[in-house]
Amino acid sequence: MRVIIQENYEKMSLWAANFIADAINSHKGPNPFVLGLPTGSSPIGVYKKLIEMNKAGKVTFKNVVTFNMDEYVGLPHEHDQSYWYFMHDNFFNHIDIPEKNINMLNGMTDDPVKECQDYEKRIASYGGIDLFMGGIGVDGHIAFNEPFTSLSSRTGLRTLTTDTKIVNSRFFGNDPSKVPSYALSVGVGTVFDSKIVLVLINGHNKARALAHTVEGGVSQMWTCSALQMHNNAIIACDEAACGEIKVDTYRYFKDVESAERL
Ligand code: GLP
Repeated sequence: MRVIIQENYEKMSLWAANFIADAINSHKGPNPFVLGLPTGSSPIGVYKKLIEMNKAGKVTFKNVVTFNMDEYVGLPHEHDQSYWYFMHDNFFNHIDIPEKNINMLNGMTDDPVKECQDYEKRIASYGGIDLFMGGIGVDGHIAFNEPFTSLSSRTGLRTLTTDTKIVNSRFFGNDPSKVPSYALSVGVGTVFDSKIVLVLINGHNKARALAHTVEGGVSQMWTCSALQMHNNAIIACDEAACGEIKVDTYRYFKDVESAERL
């Protein structure tokens, strides 16, 4: 696992955006580059940088296919808290990606089982995901894979915990009862089948989750800890998120990442 510790959120976002743009630019066609994407406040800075780079001609999304991690059940596209709305508002509407290349789970489906199975099939039809960017919840959930979700889970229906509803209620007028109780989400296994997994962890409120991800044992209690089993996992974090890792852990990653890469 690589842990890239940046001074602040701005620098973490820039590092991750450059990493994604480099991966897209070094991809050899004609098959598209397949990019997995998250919502939440953590990736907003990365999206802003990628939009700037796209407008400056430094990266194009014309041959990129995206798969988003998750979507609330019961929110239509036009609901300003649906992840469809979030992604278009914060990213897709501002870059040169063809709409047909965008894949998102449909939280309004009548048949969630089929919707999720079809999503897995669509990912497989592209030969899997090249790079999955993710964020994590304060309880270490990745996508909507709450504590005790199987580490080999696939795309499916998830029940949100009360903790997550309370945390996410900041987008729903601070009223947890307004947060949908269910979501469709890729599984931990779906994310970890990706060739590269890049997870953004920033802010003091994620310090405990970062420590469990990097130093704790692999456990379904912290679904993000499955990252330890992936052979190309990268965490991009800021100093604020490092508050609960050991000084030696911090020094180790600073040391190896400051060495020149071969
Ligand atoms: C939600 C999403 C996750 C996201 C998490 C953290 O629960 N389902 O994919 O990683 O929130 O969000 P934030 O980045 O706003 O802290």
